[in-house]
Amino acid sequence: MTIWNNLNDAAENIKDRKIISLFDAPQRAQNFSARFDDMVFDYSKTNIDEDVLAQLLKLATTAKVCRHRDAMFSGEKINQTEGRAVLHTALRNIGGDPVMFGGTDVMPKINETLNRMEDFAAGVRAGRMRGQGGKITDVVNIGIGGSDLGPAMACLALAPYHTGPKTHFVSNVDGAHINDVLKPLNPETTLVIVASKTFTTIETMTNARAAFNWMTGVVKNPANQFAALSSAEDKTTEFGIAQERVFGFEDWVGGRYSLWGPIGMSLMIAIGPEEFRDFLRGGAQMDAHFKTAELRQNLPVLLALVGIWHHQVCGYPTRAILPYDQRLSRLPAYFQQLEMESNGKGVSMDGNELKYASGPIVWGEPGTNGQHAFYQLIHQGTDVVPCEFMVAAQGHETALKHQHTLLLANCLAQSESLMLGRDFDTAMSLMAVKKFTGKEQIRQASHRVFKGNRPSTTLIYPKLTPSMLGRIIALYEHRVFVEGVILGINSFDQWGVELGKELATALEPIVSGKASAEGKDGSTKMLVEFIQSIE
Ligand code: F6P
Repeated sequence: MTIWNNLNDAAENIKDRKIISLFDAPQRAQNFSARFDDMVFDYSKTNIDEDVLAQLLKLATTAKVCRHRDAMFSGEKINQTEGRAVLHTALRNIGGDPVMFGGTDVMPKINETLNRMEDFAAGVRAGRMRGQGGKITDVVNIGIGGSDLGPAMACLALAPYHTGPKTHFVSNVDGAHINDVLKPLNPETTLVIVASKTFTTIETMTNARAAFNWMTGVVKNPANQFAALSSAEDKTTEFGIAQERVFGFEDWVGGRYSLWGPIGMSLMIAIGPEEFRDFLRGGAQMDAHFKTAELRQNLPVLLALVGIWHHQVCGYPTRAILPYDQRLSRLPAYFQQLEMESNGKGVSMDGNELKYASGPIVWGEPGTNGQHAFYQLIHQGTDVVPCEFMVAAQGHETALKHQHTLLLANCLAQSESLMLGRDFDTAMSLMAVKKFTGKEQIRQASHRVFKGNRPSTTLIYPKLTPSMLGRIIALYEHRVFVEGVILGINSFDQWGVELGKELATALEPIVSGKASAEGKDGSTKMLVEFIQSIE
């Protein structure tokens, strides 16, 4: 019997067991939760019991999670399809212990870049690095995917710490995006940051040129108000951006893991270098926890195992990320890229078809908004959606403490009601109070039944500070890593995004009428014809 078979059997045997019954055991909540410092991950409201957990932990041990983890931190080329190491963790290694790659310590170069970033960010904030019209009032980050989602998410998340110019983000090649972002801005006091690891991404380069044109004619030398975050120095020079405003990073930093280095520039300008260091410190603390905590107490490992239990074993197709924090409204999108670009693969490391389901569909919105939109399906729909709640015990708005109390009550109420549900008899009593009788009482009651027994986890922490955000992001990065190791996936490449890019490049001349659609499939031809028929 393999461990997977044991887990599948366990899932079958307990599928009708009520999660609430597990709380009859003493200390259920304490035993099925884990702490790292002042963060608590509670997975007691899932159907995982001691036997299941033991099998899941065995899965992690058999997959040699610890060996793979150590290989990642020590700079082995674990991204085998691109022949690259995975060392984004070095970017947040602010303790400064050496990190060796190919026989060289990478920390001096990382620290040098961090220091240059800090000088630049401090200069922008203090008005030493100025626009033609004076102090920089607005910073526009142009990038996409990992060069956008991270800084956009983090700038919003840390709004209470903003003390610098306003930050804006342009990602979509849709001209509406750059148009609407630039429209209210003054070109003479705007700094444009072109964020692209490769400096070839069509969306980013098209938007960068549009921003350059927007400045041209108003600003004498637009390039002076541009900075670049990229590994491709030759291309940034070709674009005309002076070397002192180019901040590079190595190919062992994947796009979706790049917020910790130069891609975090807009965040650093917004919150200041010191708070940015706190953010890095939080990530480094989670790294230390991941490296040293025993598996049963290891937050990233536990998150991964709960995820695998729900998706690969129980077969629940999606996972909802539900931060009860309006400022984390972009976090689900950020985790979407992190999880789906990393583990949305069809073959394992050796190139063979994957034996299990790949990573789940990840989606979500902040609470309480989601409650008034899609929670209906989560409570009563036919698909079970494991929910991952996250919330801070305290908000930043001390004058609105009562609102934070309401927010917390809503968060706890959701996980409680998902687990408990409401049975038919209770629904019938409610309908009796409403004076329904006979068949109509039964009909009305059946609409008000909640099957319950829907699993959820809760991550709770004192307050959303820069270091806490750093910890949360690193926690999820490592969770995705552990899931990938257990599934035998290369979590660090993204070949699945290439085909669409190639075809878009080929279709551009056809859509614009410079080339014929001959040879294209019937649907594509018809759509091209429609576009061209519109004057
Ligand atoms: O399209 C996929 C992707 O390569 C992501 O992995 C990456 O985050 C994004 O594009 C942007 O890439 P770049 O930073 O090179 O512009």
